[in-house]
Amino acid sequence: MRVMLRGIRREAEETNSYVLEPLPGQTLPAFAAGAHVEVKIAANLSRSYSLANDPESRGYYEIAVHKSPTSRGGSARIHDAWKVGQLIEISEPRNNFPLNTSADHTVLIAGGIGITPMLPMIATLERLRKSWEIHYVAATPRRAAFMDRLRAYPQAHILVEPAPSGRKLDLEDVCNAAPRNAHLYCCGPARMLDAFAAATEDRPKGHAHIEYFSADTMIATEGGYRLELVRSGKIIEVPQGNNMLDCLLGAGVDVGFACSEGVCGSCRVDVLGGIPDHRDKFLSEEEKASNATIMVCCSGSKTPCLMLDL
Ligand code: FES
Repeated sequence: MRVMLRGIRREAEETNSYVLEPLPGQTLPAFAAGAHVEVKIAANLSRSYSLANDPESRGYYEIAVHKSPTSRGGSARIHDAWKVGQLIEISEPRNNFPLNTSADHTVLIAGGIGITPMLPMIATLERLRKSWEIHYVAATPRRAAFMDRLRAYPQAHILVEPAPSGRKLDLEDVCNAAPRNAHLYCCGPARMLDAFAAATEDRPKGHAHIEYFSADTMIATEGGYRLELVRSGKIIEVPQGNNMLDCLLGAGVDVGFACSEGVCGSCRVDVLGGIPDHRDKFLSEEEKASNATIMVCCSGSKTPCLMLDL
């Protein structure tokens, strides 16, 4: 759907928030905390951004974008080219990081721009008068975003690394201190997420939640296999040095994608034959073991032929 860019606000060094409003006569679909939208930045270039506003504040969406020094065009283009008043194409909200609103206690852990999905979670938990805490780590004081919103809460623990005291966030301590039945959420850089996964591996199943916004994904470019698209009857070769998504797009196959690095879930396709070489961070280990679906932006094939439901 198309929306209008109504406002740009600097939230931290190299981080802006963007307010997106519906066009006259239109309304935006409701969303729940943890949802994201896919934003079309250019032809064949989309990115996922978490919604940052309170889900109850209907009538607009807010996203936040950190201009990555390693940007391959996404965040840099938004920072450099977006102007108030322009039209933006976005998807409807999708939610891979839903908040369990029945938890007795909620622990939110965020690093950098990973604070974004936590903001609507805080708004929701506050409205429901639930017990919660947040631990937010920023690389420098100037990189700490949305401080005006966070400072209002005594249970917001903000740590700039390295702190003058030399203190670092001890994820294991934070997780161990949480009640056994708490739900824990983490969004941040890959090493934070890995530490969180290790610190919560003994938690009850489904109580530790991770949102990747970037992965150190080793995209499969080994090639040397073919794709059989069962519904369209197309046969597509993936040569050495190429990835599956580029070959599908190059053959004119309309397949959705956003992050292009296996974290957002947009490019999921059902597998009808063959064994994928899973490289994504999106599917669970059980889903990967079943080989029933593949994230085509980053994964490859372990068999000479992969049959896809396309
Ligand atoms: S495009 Fe995001 S997981 Fe593939």
